[in-house]
Amino acid sequence: MADLKNEYCMHTATCGELRAQDTGREVVLTGWAWHNRDHGGLIFCDLRDRAGYTQIVVDPDCVSAEDFACAEHLGREYVLKVTGAVRERAAEAVNPNMATGEIEVLASAIEVLNTSVTPPFSIEDGIETDETTRMKWRYLDIRRPEMYAALRLRHTVVQAMRTALNERGFLEIETPILANSTPEGARDYIVPSRPNPGKFYALPQSPQQFKQMLMCAGVERYYQIARCFRDEDLRADRQPEFTQVDIEMSFVQGEDVMNMMEDVMAETLAAAGVSHAFPLERMPYAEAMERFGCDRPDTRFGMELVNLTEIVRGCGFGVFARAVEAGGVVKAINCKGAGDWSRGDVEKLADIAAANGAKGMAWIAFTSDGKEKSPIIKFFEEDVYARLKEAMGVEAGDLLLFAADKAEVANAVLSALRLHMADRLGIPREGHSLLWVVNFPMFKYDEDEKKYAAEHHPFTHVLDEDLDCIETEPLACGSYSYDLVMDGFEVGGGTIRIHNAEEQRRVLRVCGLTDEQIDEKFGHLIHALELGAPPHGGIALGLDRLVMLLAGKESIRDVIAFPKTSSASDPMTGAPSAVTGRQLKEVSLRTL
Ligand code: AMO
Ligand code: AMP
Repeated sequence: MADLKNEYCMHTATCGELRAQDTGREVVLTGWAWHNRDHGGLIFCDLRDRAGYTQIVVDPDCVSAEDFACAEHLGREYVLKVTGAVRERAAEAVNPNMATGEIEVLASAIEVLNTSVTPPFSIEDGIETDETTRMKWRYLDIRRPEMYAALRLRHTVVQAMRTALNERGFLEIETPILANSTPEGARDYIVPSRPNPGKFYALPQSPQQFKQMLMCAGVERYYQIARCFRDEDLRADRQPEFTQVDIEMSFVQGEDVMNMMEDVMAETLAAAGVSHAFPLERMPYAEAMERFGCDRPDTRFGMELVNLTEIVRGCGFGVFARAVEAGGVVKAINCKGAGDWSRGDVEKLADIAAANGAKGMAWIAFTSDGKEKSPIIKFFEEDVYARLKEAMGVEAGDLLLFAADKAEVANAVLSALRLHMADRLGIPREGHSLLWVVNFPMFKYDEDEKKYAAEHHPFTHVLDEDLDCIETEPLACGSYSYDLVMDGFEVGGGTIRIHNAEEQRRVLRVCGLTDEQIDEKFGHLIHALELGAPPHGGIALGLDRLVMLLAGKESIRDVIAFPKTSSASDPMTGAPSAVTGRQLKEVSLRTL
């Protein structure tokens, strides 16, 4: 905290910096009265500022009667200016749990800069106050050391990224917030335009199109700490407004972007005090799905999915045989250490499977005393069962969980069970693991909308070898794409872009747009591609998620100063709120 300067302010030291070697120093401290106690005539107060705590001692012999009276009536969160001398604490009073625990400041004067009514919760770490209350009083919440530390870490990360990018020739450029819709897969936040009745801006879901325009403009290397807005269902790792470190480069291939990002990440992690080996693994999307059942695998532990499809093809257990017959798969995970679970506990796991689309969840338990328990063993031929056990590497104490379904359902089910069982079995997930998941499919089929959509976004370049089958076999087309995955979270995603106008039209047509719609919505992009667009690509990091993981938090709300609740509201300011009839009329709107 040596970088917290004691200049341009009332204090001459922070509450976190004084040590035994400062004994005798005259100091002025400012901060909040945290823990006040009266010990037989001497008053003690732990004064807190953003740097830490310092114990203040008020002795009636050392201060004026007026100041002593003031010290006797200190309340929690009173704002104080204390003048005094640093002295060493008596040996028995040293507090090894406090950075300043060797010393205290003997006050010679105390000034109350402001009083405080009783705060709604205690300003300290580890409180169990519900989150909405913390958000309503966010300025108090941020007085807590752990919250301040998270915001400070966020600052450190942003500065490290800026420095790393600046040093590599990137230009920081701002792009508009009042913009047009750009497809990133969520609903837009829309803003009415007063001078253009009936017309709306969309807040950017990402600066995607603008950064591509900057490449067409010859900027060559761009970045922005960009606020993005997405109206989607909120979760612990999703906010309606969030921050991307948004990056774009010209004359590059995917490997160039990944290598650049690894160098920037290495410097950023070092600044955050985290070490990780580089270069990172590049895992093809298909392999991630096969081994972990998801495209953002937490690779800090095993329990990988095992594909049993060929072993159980045509076997005596109808559920498995029929799933394979119908073109599906049978996969399983081996949960070591759960073999002695009760039947009831195991069967409850079927709820997780069902929530992810499973029609059932077969299981086999191998107890530690050598018994085999399961509703399905009896259906297997002896040799099938033996091969199954061998494939699963079975030992006493294991529990096998099976999913038989279309590949995407079986993967989703086992991926969810794998994470759940890792938590339940207390499998350590310490440290951080970063990897690239690469080569995503270009398209997916949207069952609700009954049409194809881009897996990343429709500006992604289709693999050269698949260009001929964009229209005929969209689902077989791969793409130049890469996601940065950390500890089971997608912390970044990017692609090499289409820089050929005709390829761009073809992809948008597959996504269901007519040529008229393409010209209307993406005419500017098509024109730019026709006017000498360089090959280009980029990536966007989810800053909130990255800082959440580095700070060891479970929600991005804990690393955002003023986040929103799961219903996208702010309990502190009351946003969103109603507007007057007049405001609505001005923008030609009526509410229902
Ligand atoms: P994408 O949609 O993958 O890519 O977003 C990039 C990263 O942003 C983070 N993120 C979020 N973080 C918090 N709350 C949200 N609601 C949220 N949504 C996304 C994720 C994600 O990896 N334009 C492309 C990037 C590109 O191709 O260059 C884009 O926006 O960590
Ligand atoms: P059933 O024949 O439906 O009674 O199922 C027998 C066993 O197979 C039960 O333990 C079911 O939970 C399980 N099961 C049923 N469908 C599936 C499936 N699609 N995948 C995995 N297990 C299943």
